[in-house]
Amino acid sequence: MIDSKEKLCEVLEIRGGKDLKGTIEISGAKNSALPNMAATILTDDTVELHNVPTLLDVKTMIHLLQHIGSDIYDLSGGVIRFRLKDLNSLEAPYDLVSKMRASILVLGPLLARFGYAQVALPGGCSIGTRPVDLHLEAFRKMGAEIKVEHGYIIGKVAGRLKGAVIKFPRKTVTGTENVLMAAVLAEGETVIENAALEPEVVDLANMLKKMGADIEGEGTDVIRVRGVRNLNGVTHKIIPDRIEAGTFAILSALFDGKIVIKNYPFEYLTYVHKIFEKIGFNIVKIGDNQVAVVRSERLNPVAVETKEYPFFPTDLQAQIMTLLTVVKGRSSVTENIFENRFMHVPELQRLGAEIRIKGRTAYINGVEKLTGAEVKATDLRASAAMVIAGLIAEGKTLIYDIYHLDRGYENIDSKLKLLGAEISRI
Ligand code: UD1
Repeated sequence: MIDSKEKLCEVLEIRGGKDLKGTIEISGAKNSALPNMAATILTDDTVELHNVPTLLDVKTMIHLLQHIGSDIYDLSGGVIRFRLKDLNSLEAPYDLVSKMRASILVLGPLLARFGYAQVALPGGCSIGTRPVDLHLEAFRKMGAEIKVEHGYIIGKVAGRLKGAVIKFPRKTVTGTENVLMAAVLAEGETVIENAALEPEVVDLANMLKKMGADIEGEGTDVIRVRGVRNLNGVTHKIIPDRIEAGTFAILSALFDGKIVIKNYPFEYLTYVHKIFEKIGFNIVKIGDNQVAVVRSERLNPVAVETKEYPFFPTDLQAQIMTLLTVVKGRSSVTENIFENRFMHVPELQRLGAEIRIKGRTAYINGVEKLTGAEVKATDLRASAAMVIAGLIAEGKTLIYDIYHLDRGYENIDSKLKLLGAEISRI
């Protein structure tokens, strides 16, 4: 695990234009590990998670669970054991929540098992306002009294949460997960309508079912949950990270298939592959769970729009835009999920990209090549885009505020070094 005392360097230096080749392996999914870790609150038995990535966000969730009272043993190799037997606190404090919005995921499990929770309001973040109103509305419908006071969400339940029909006015990933975790211990049936379909929601439902939860419909628009009194312990393996996989697939495309990706969750990226094919990249399967992305003769500009799963993920928007900066012709990228997720555009411009923003759409005029410059990592996925850009740019790129990268990409420097990248922290 990353040691919290370890001093994290904040600048990444990349010497671009090197010919990258070799094999890179995909880690466990951050966005699956976090809700599954929060779900360990739901039982007083031991839960053992496998394939947990070594990331700052995982470390933050560990601190939060330890603060609540969980005994946590890192058995190394991505295996972590959790047990919440003796409660220490029902509060998720501001210093932890402010580091990671996904801390809100402890609210549902705490209300369901202990009937009380106090969670700091996550507040805004660099990619938009990102409210949690839909989570709170759902818990109210399930019988919780929810107040927001002094920057804290305070939830109380008299007895058990009650099953309810929760119809989300828009799809929300962590909203669906939070309600799912609350519903498994609620009294009666909960129906989640317009539920998120993401594979990470399905992974959470699969783990909860192994713990004894009665769930059906995960992976569809309507999830039905019949609450049970108790859940038992479980051993569960986290699914591979489709966003990390998509990021490396883009890199493989840029290096004409010389980068092979191992442990690749092919089925989660079907729509992304369609976009690759439109541009002129073919996905070549090499043995079990391995792919390379190979370029065809001619590349074409495309129009990409982000949309909830199974469509193009907002978490790959900055990375695909980086690729399109060097595809000849006029492409466009429209961001439909978050209102302020183009912070990487001025940074790409510093590297020589030609991009113009109009409303929710960025218009990209493909250039011959990018050239190294000093840039900033503005958020987690934008930082991956800067790394891709730095690797293909001519000359030296310095990426500041690189800690964002450590929140979501496991050992990215060493993985890239194995491919021959000249990358170092200074
Ligand atoms: C999750 C992912 C994040 C990804 C995002 C969209 C995790 C830990 N994070 O974030 O990586 O970028 O899905 O795929 O899984 N909204 C509201 N009110 C709410 C909740 C959401 O208005 O109560 C809005 C959001 O501001 C956003 C949209 O709904 O515009 C979708 O957000 P949501 O799916 O909830 O994103 P997260 O779960 O926070």
